[in-house]
Amino acid sequence: MSDYRRITIASAGAHAGEPVEIAGWLYNLRKSGKIIFPLLRDGSGILQGVCVKSQVPEQVFEDLKNLTQESSVIVRGKCRAEQRAPGGFEMDVESVQIVQRVPEDTPYPITPKDHGTEFLFDHRHLHLRSRRQHAVLKIRHEIIKAIRDYFDSNGFTLVDCPIFTPAACEGTTTLFEVNYFDEEKVYLTQSGQLYNEATAMAFGKTYCFGPTFRAEKSKTRRHLTEFWMVEPEMAYADLEDVKRVAEELIVFMTGRVLENRQTELATLERDVSKLEAIKGPFPRISYDDAVKILQGKGSEIQWGGDFGGADETLLSEEFDRPVMVDRYPSEVKAFYFQPDPNRPEVALGVDVIASEGYGEIIGGGQRIHDYDLLLRRIQEHHLPPEAFNWYLDLRRFGSVPHGGFGMGVERAVAWMCGLEHIRETIAFPRMLYRTRP
Ligand code: 4AD
Ligand code: MG
Repeated sequence: MSDYRRITIASAGAHAGEPVEIAGWLYNLRKSGKIIFPLLRDGSGILQGVCVKSQVPEQVFEDLKNLTQESSVIVRGKCRAEQRAPGGFEMDVESVQIVQRVPEDTPYPITPKDHGTEFLFDHRHLHLRSRRQHAVLKIRHEIIKAIRDYFDSNGFTLVDCPIFTPAACEGTTTLFEVNYFDEEKVYLTQSGQLYNEATAMAFGKTYCFGPTFRAEKSKTRRHLTEFWMVEPEMAYADLEDVKRVAEELIVFMTGRVLENRQTELATLERDVSKLEAIKGPFPRISYDDAVKILQGKGSEIQWGGDFGGADETLLSEEFDRPVMVDRYPSEVKAFYFQPDPNRPEVALGVDVIASEGYGEIIGGGQRIHDYDLLLRRIQEHHLPPEAFNWYLDLRRFGSVPHGGFGMGVERAVAWMCGLEHIRETIAFPRMLYRTRP
């Protein structure tokens, strides 16, 4: 039996002075004559060890000195406060047990030097161990937990939606087709929304939270082909209700990240003042106003056109917090949007454009609740009516005004973390030119 108690690096501060062991991996090794400084990681944090030649058996010193990067080790010793060390604690190493030594002739491929993006993403299964990627995924976890907590404590029931679907929700051009036995083709879901509309009529307020797919041939810093989306849906709700929930969700999520992920934000050198500015109420403008602002800033946009990524970035420059843009032309929006009764050419939809050029983070609005109008829209969009029979049923049996939205988790993570590119926000990104590892 070892006298050393197994602890995590994150809890090292609570065990100062006690004999403890840390089971982890060698992150880096710095040597300076008769002292070596192994940097250890265990998934919970990074801890610097100190091993002085004169104070340990010779074998311990030699083992550690020759240890290779990312070898798995159990290190024993005592921790003490050290202001200059990462995490504020250091371990005086007494012994080392090597679990697996990475051989010299096949060294760990990711070294502290600079590697190109392609190389790092080819080695994504290892890349995830690095400090920066670790921080991003910790913040992702925080965001997902905040999203769930927000909905769970505001009367929403989680009802997840299928991934194999018979029809398009967000336009037929971005569907991934799947062979489904001898059946006709099915598609990977673009959004759980249509099913949410059914569950909202059963539960009042629901949300689904799962992977969604878009065969978008756009190679941008904002697009993945597989991304996670959280989608709330509410019965007896209008566009203003949708905006209120969207705003509350973003404010709540940002607060949680600021509160619980300071270390990770610091690792990413995130300017937290930008996140601190994300408070309600968010500015609310119409599509008409947004077009005028954009034209004033030199954009080519004309009334009737959809905003491109560059327009969204331009628009966000005007505000220090997210901006809500509503009433887009129905022409550029999906078939299910309720038209504005006072101006039928515009849709009761809203896009939330994140600050700092992170683009559209939320899209949603009020759905058509009238049977005849919905049927007409399905026909105008050349969607197969037989696949939408069940959806039309929702307008036959107790139809009510209702609405909801979708927030892309990866865009939220990129924004909170201040990342250049969305590929870092998910453990194994799927993009136009990447399906591996
Ligand atoms: O605006 P979108 O297409 O809306 C819907 O799918 C609705 N059916 C949602 C609803 O009302 N229930 O997508 C919603 C959000 C976007 O604002 C964006 O954050 C994210 O999903 N998104 C993507 N994220 C990463 N990569 C992509 N290719 C994305 N496409 C959309
Ligand atoms: Mg959208």
